[in-house]
Amino acid sequence: MLVNMNEMLIKAFKEKYAVPQFNINNLEWTKFILEECQQNNSPVILGVSEGAVKYFGGYKTVTAVVRSLIEELKITVPVALHLDHGSSVESCVKAIASGFTSVMIDASKYPIEENIRITNEVVKIAKKYKISVEAEVGAVGGAEDGVANEIKFATIEECQELVKKTNIDCLAPALGSVHGLYKGEPKLNLARMMEISTILSIPLVLHGGTGIPDETIKESIKCGISKININTELQVVWALAVREFLILYDKEYDPRKIINAGQSAIKKAVLDKIVLFGSYNKG
Ligand code: 13P
Repeated sequence: MLVNMNEMLIKAFKEKYAVPQFNINNLEWTKFILEECQQNNSPVILGVSEGAVKYFGGYKTVTAVVRSLIEELKITVPVALHLDHGSSVESCVKAIASGFTSVMIDASKYPIEENIRITNEVVKIAKKYKISVEAEVGAVGGAEDGVANEIKFATIEECQELVKKTNIDCLAPALGSVHGLYKGEPKLNLARMMEISTILSIPLVLHGGTGIPDETIKESIKCGISKININTELQVVWALAVREFLILYDKEYDPRKIINAGQSAIKKAVLDKIVLFGSYNKG
């Protein structure tokens, strides 16, 4: 069932668990993730970065793949198709026009007033079509799709201002997490996370979910995190499994067998997150 993120996030926020966002890269990943979420009755957000959209062959291709898989695999759990880190109003509009049910407008690199102005432009359009909107304040560290950032902690005042002046559905306050693999132990500002959540009472999003210790994930959920993004971890476990397969079967050339060699590794990682985030049986 293709839906926006609203209902699933409000439920998660109230019941204190987090909905996983898994980033997708191709048909097979989408299929593996949907099957595992259906199997465990978990709602799921399929995150697609602008780079992944390009790789798929365009927004419409992504939508067609996701819609067809939901239909043909008889997926009944709530699924949101979400643009991850939309960098402009144009790219959010393209996603919406192609059938995405949710967008993130990431104008966090601009001063807060400009971030608010751009976010509002997207919200205005999105609300007409019942599309959910995520925005970001501060900066998540590390690199995604080749775009690198220094960590910049979100301030409570800026989060308050953005939420007050826009009608967003969830907020990603950068509080020390990093996209990609962490160098050393992640240091999240959980106290500030709790304060932002208490003041704003809006579902919060944790980016850079890969490599955050389980205990910290559980603490974050207690502090108001209702959506956690996972990208790199699936890439790492898939690549490891495929590499092993190719060493073992060095004459194999059937792409279906090669890509599928990472299926159980992806499904295991998806299940682990569903259990850790508490989204099992919340579909
Ligand atoms: P990771 O790649 O660190 O899991 O982060 C994913 C993410 O935050 C996507 O927006």
